[in-house]
Amino acid sequence: MTQPINQVCVVGAGLMGTQIALQCAVFGKRVWLHDLREDALRGSLPAMSAILDNMTEDGYVSADERQRILDRIRHTTSVSEAASDADLVIEAVKEEVTIKRDVFQQLDKLCPQHTILGTNSSSIRISRLESATTRPDRVLNTHFVLPIWTHPFVELMRGDSTSDATMEAVRSFMSSIGILPVIVQKESMGFIFNRIWRAVKKEALKVVDQGIGTVEDVDRTWRIQMETPLGPFALMDSIGLDVVRDIELIYYEESGDPSDAPPKLLLDKIAGGELGVKTGRGFYTYPNPDWKSPDFLKQTSP
Ligand SMILES: NC(=O)c1ccc[n+]([C@@H]2O[C@H](COP(=O)([O-])OP(=O)(O)OC[C@H]3O[C@@H](n4cnc5c(N)ncnc54)[C@H](O)[C@@H]3O)[C@@H](O)[C@H]2O)c1
Repeated sequence: MTQPINQVCVVGAGLMGTQIALQCAVFGKRVWLHDLREDALRGSLPAMSAILDNMTEDGYVSADERQRILDRIRHTTSVSEAASDADLVIEAVKEEVTIKRDVFQQLDKLCPQHTILGTNSSSIRISRLESATTRPDRVLNTHFVLPIWTHPFVELMRGDSTSDATMEAVRSFMSSIGILPVIVQKESMGFIFNRIWRAVKKEALKVVDQGIGTVEDVDRTWRIQMETPLGPFALMDSIGLDVVRDIELIYYEESGDPSDAPPKLLLDKIAGGELGVKTGRGFYTYPNPDWKSPDFLKQTSP
């Protein structure tokens, strides 16, 4: 038997943690949002406000609910405060195994016995984190995609020891916050969606790195052929190029295959401080990237 999930703790108030916390609060859950950095917690407020503007405009939430939603989210730099009454923790810190293992170890000590620990990792399987805890039956991967409220699915993946009760409790929780829970039937690095996205991203980077095509032409051809509004490079910019690099490094670390290493094109952008939308420059320049221009699909690179 597992307890119903009402109190959620989100660890990491970056791009993902902010949206996960908001999604839970929109559906009536009480949330602690924890980050080590005070400025990250502060930065999550305008980010939530901007998403709530869009949600209100779209009729997803009503204007008078807005304050009640925000009031359900408490912010803290103290992990012990955030963990103390959690039924479910969703960890969304940097994509590095050692950092995540430290966080899981700490949470295991601080959370009540019944608490389920989930990681939003893009590429680290729960089996690499579960041994940092004494509760491997109550840990799993809970992988969301951005923007959460307009892309409402989450991949749930168990490790060797995750119990059926844990899977069922989290599956039911995700449905209760308007998110479609997709079960990854076998442990797989990159789950379902990221395996496919990774193949596209890796080849898109190589095509440009090897001088075969331009960023813009890769995005154009992809968009026209797949009938989708976003190309691979525009999507990488919105994810954050540092996050993309970290994910590529995890694949590289696992395979040791040099073709899996992040290409120079990506490393050069990061070295130049060009991390995508969040720094105003990545493969495109923001807030008005070329790919949003109405003529973008009517031109080609020289
Ligand atoms: N960006 C995406 O589109 C995306 C999509 C799916 C999954 N993910 C995964 O979600 C996770 C977070 O990604 P993000 O894009 O939100 O990263 P981010 O860099 O925007 O945010 C990470 C936050 O974690 C905080 N943090 C770091 N160490 C911490 C610790 N020990 N305790 C508490 N807070 C800590 C940082 O201060 C930062 O605010 C990563 O594992 C990433 O792979 C990202």
